[in-house]
Amino acid sequence: MTKSPTANLRNPRSKAPPRSVHIVGTGSYVPQRVLRNADLEKLVDTTDDWIVTRTGIRERRIAAENECTSDMGAQAALRAMEQAGVRGEDIDLIICATLTPDMPFPATACLIQQKIGAKRAAAFDMEAACSGFLYAVEIGQQFITSGTYNTVLVIGAEKLSTITDWEDRSTCVLFGDGAGAAVLRSSGQTHGILTTCMGADGSQSDILLMPAGGARYPASKESVSGRMHYLKMAGKEVFKNAVVAMQTAAEEALRKCNLTIQDIQCVIPHQANIRILEALADRLGAPMDKVYVNLDRYGNVSAASVAIALDEAARAGRFQRGDLILLVVFGSGLTWAAAVIQW
Ligand code: ACO
Repeated sequence: MTKSPTANLRNPRSKAPPRSVHIVGTGSYVPQRVLRNADLEKLVDTTDDWIVTRTGIRERRIAAENECTSDMGAQAALRAMEQAGVRGEDIDLIICATLTPDMPFPATACLIQQKIGAKRAAAFDMEAACSGFLYAVEIGQQFITSGTYNTVLVIGAEKLSTITDWEDRSTCVLFGDGAGAAVLRSSGQTHGILTTCMGADGSQSDILLMPAGGARYPASKESVSGRMHYLKMAGKEVFKNAVVAMQTAAEEALRKCNLTIQDIQCVIPHQANIRILEALADRLGAPMDKVYVNLDRYGNVSAASVAIALDEAARAGRFQRGDLILLVVFGSGLTWAAAVIQW
């Protein structure tokens, strides 16, 4: 059968072949203040031993009172831009993935645009909880592949300490603050982002949420006294779903580019709990030394987690140019995503 001349084109309006998209720079930022498990022992009825055994977390970073999501996002962005050799005026689009924006509006991406001098850039936030950074990478990739933009800055930034209930021992030990960023550009080479996939299941939206502060329960005396402006989580349910969803997403991404886990040099997962990562590695058939872990130092930083991990792993030389890496995430929504990248 004769193939249609446009069969391989992703943008039907364009005659050019799809442009491959590469991460040309990464950056991350974590606040200076370290909150150790021993400090949490003084706040709630917990122990260092319980936290380390059940989660793998030893410490997390907490932003200063006047340090906001946009400040951390801008710092991470500037580091990614420096590595990429990109100036503010080169950026066409900024996507900030966050569930802790500086304020409901304007978008934190707009505040970051101003801080980094990206005057020409369009800017918006997107929320897919802990999956947000990879969702944003896929959106940014689509804008470049279609030929709409050349340079996209993707950021995951969170100040989770503001929505953490410091009286709830089952959640307050898990989270931290920070930001990570990546600059996406058409590489003009065959390598780059080989595939992405993402998914969601809204039927389980009630197992991980912050109930108040939106249209359903606007801020009121009752919402504040009911502690409804804090994150709530059914930990065991989230745990089970996280393992299955990340396994499924990772396998789908590998299948889409005809690869197996043996081809992958480094797996960079969302950093929620070491037991989730060990279960995931086991199901994928990956040895743990292939899996990048930094949750012992930062805890779960939601949308920023995988972005910080990617930056650290790249700078530490955990993979080289041409190596294949697998990113996989999971979060509230429920949401999940995976990407295979040839570095
Ligand atoms: N210190 C001491 N004891 C604690 C603590 C604590 N910090 N927290 C809970 N406990 C107690 C519980 O009260 C319970 O006691 P009980 O048996 O007397 O009732 C006992 O420890 C066991 O509690 P479980 O909740 O069953 O503990 P579990 O082994 O499931 O671990 C955890 C809890 C760590 C939260 C785990 O379920 C988990 O990691 N879940 C996934 C979390 C996750 O991935 N969240 C992020 C998703 S990404 C996003 O979108 C934000």
